[in-house]
Amino acid sequence: MTSTASGAQINFQDGGAYDAAMGVWSRLAGERFLQWMAPAPGLRWLDIGCGSGAFTELLMQTAHPATLHGVDPSEPQLAFARKRPALAGCDLRVGDAMQLPFADACFDAAVMALVLFFVPEPARGLAEMRRVVRPGGVVSAYLWDFSTGGFPFEPIQAEQRAMGMTPRLPPSVQVAGMAAFRAQFEAAGLAGIETTTLHVARSFADFDSFWAITTGMMQDSLTQMGPDRTASLRAAVQRRLQPDSNGQITYNAHANAIRAVVPG
Ligand SMILES: C[S@@+](CC[C@H](N)C(=O)[O-])C[C@H]1O[C@@H](n2cnc3c(N)ncnc32)[C@H](O)[C@@H]1O
Repeated sequence: MTSTASGAQINFQDGGAYDAAMGVWSRLAGERFLQWMAPAPGLRWLDIGCGSGAFTELLMQTAHPATLHGVDPSEPQLAFARKRPALAGCDLRVGDAMQLPFADACFDAAVMALVLFFVPEPARGLAEMRRVVRPGGVVSAYLWDFSTGGFPFEPIQAEQRAMGMTPRLPPSVQVAGMAAFRAQFEAAGLAGIETTTLHVARSFADFDSFWAITTGMMQDSLTQMGPDRTASLRAAVQRRLQPDSNGQITYNAHANAIRAVVPG
């Protein structure tokens, strides 16, 4: 029988736990993304789904924007982001990708960093991103590629599946594969579409460290599973992740990235 790890939703109610578990991965992917984007300085940027500010901070430090706004529906994530000294002058506000609280064509560039698969109607989210960026401006996004095992939590989710469980997935996970992702941008009427895959690797001091950090965001799932099944899951994941000669665990993940131009 298939059982669910715990509900179908991934929530973002603890900015600190998110930042430890996913924020480091976000920064690794964000660095690769910004290397690929090589943005010009002095642009008016919007970061949609800015969350705990892991990517927003990189954007500020790398792209040297004229202005930087961020929106996210999660107040706890925004509270964490607002404490980052690098983001002191930024407007970080509650908002939904499907109904952005901004006028038409008021940004030069917009990005959704690991967000589009959380947007219930991705086409509406893309239409809104296009609406708020001026003609000739750049819209961009990247997503962990769940379709080819690119998600950083894949070693845990693979073992959950093997135990007959259904891991938590983003509600619009079907857009994460490159073909589907690109099709969304084409359907939004965007021009000059370019794509790449971002490969990242993260090392943990040992398996205990990997487990503690990675499960920090899924404590309610583990509680629901109970101690015996949690212990079985942990043992299975440990067998899957072989340490190097120093006992370190290194795991590779990958994300698909797209950039496009708003037609004039
Ligand atoms: C995986 S996190 C990425 C956060 C940040 N962009 C980063 O790279 O670290 C996904 C974020 O999308 C946000 N989110 C979920 N649904 C959203 C929506 N409808 N509109 C905008 N953001 C949304 C969540 O609150 C969360 O902060």
